[in-house]
Amino acid sequence: MELNLTDKVAVVTGGSKGIGLAITEALGREGARVVVGSRTETTELAALRKRYDVAFHPVDLADADGADTLARAAADRHGRIDVLVNNVGATTPRSSFLDVDDAAWMHALNMTFLSAVRASRASLPHLLAHGEGAIVNISSVNARLPFPMVVDYSAAKAALSNLTKALSEEFAPRGVRVNAVAPGPVRTPFWTAPGAFADTVAASAGSTAQEALDQVVPQQMGISTGRITEPREVADLVVFLASPRAGNITGAEFVIDGGQIKTT
Ligand SMILES: NC(=O)c1ccc[n+]([C@@H]2O[C@H](COP(=O)([O-])OP(=O)(O)OC[C@H]3O[C@@H](n4cnc5c(N)ncnc54)[C@H](OP(=O)(O)O)[C@@H]3O)[C@@H](O)[C@H]2O)c1
Repeated sequence: MELNLTDKVAVVTGGSKGIGLAITEALGREGARVVVGSRTETTELAALRKRYDVAFHPVDLADADGADTLARAAADRHGRIDVLVNNVGATTPRSSFLDVDDAAWMHALNMTFLSAVRASRASLPHLLAHGEGAIVNISSVNARLPFPMVVDYSAAKAALSNLTKALSEEFAPRGVRVNAVAPGPVRTPFWTAPGAFADTVAASAGSTAQEALDQVVPQQMGISTGRITEPREVADLVVFLASPRAGNITGAEFVIDGGQIKTT
């Protein structure tokens, strides 16, 4: 399917690894001009920069002015922004709600919710300037399936899903569509980094981290397909939603979880 993304300018937050990296690759493959914002450049992102029209802007999106500098860098480089993918988000496993203090709550809200608020606010004037554009927010099944182990992150993702709807209402009449993608577990450093969720699950299951991802997590979480999601599968959905082919889709949230969520 021709997605008509050639020469569109896309900003991807947190595009150096995992889902954001896969989205960057998929957008690049479609001929989009991509500007990635994250704190560091990985070798994988550097490799993409050689193959596609991808630029890297080092930025800490936890900073109040981080999103502004990213949007400005993209607009200065290409003169426009057509697509914003609010992908950045982070959490660590919690043992109990009682152990999550104000600083941890503020960090979760800042990284997972306010980063998207700020990036949307900074990018929307550019998206609106052409009367056509798209924002795709990377939410999570945890927005509607809150787990105690990620209590703060779940609440922040619920806020992001809520924001998706509010922005879609306000800006659809002016040509900007806003949608969300809500993945279940995806094979990225979010799970696989040392001390991250695969290690936590492995420790309680008495398995290796690899077994935790391939067997324990799908089983414990009731993933009907029997496997977690791959980053490129999320990327394919995001790129479609970002494209003009999804021209009448807005205010929607698309779950990609292998059947983990059992309710309608
Ligand atoms: N993996 C999953 O199972 C899963 C499931 C549902 C939803 N999600 C959501 O999908 C999104 C991407 O997750 P992922 O699994 O791909 O995460 P990841 O592998 O941990 O990658 C996170 C990305 O965000 C960047 N980042 C982190 N902190 C940053 C900061 N302060 N400023 C700028 N960039 C920052 C990282 O680069 P630097 O470290 O270089 O800054 C990296 O590029 C997140 O919103 C996550 O909540 C993930």
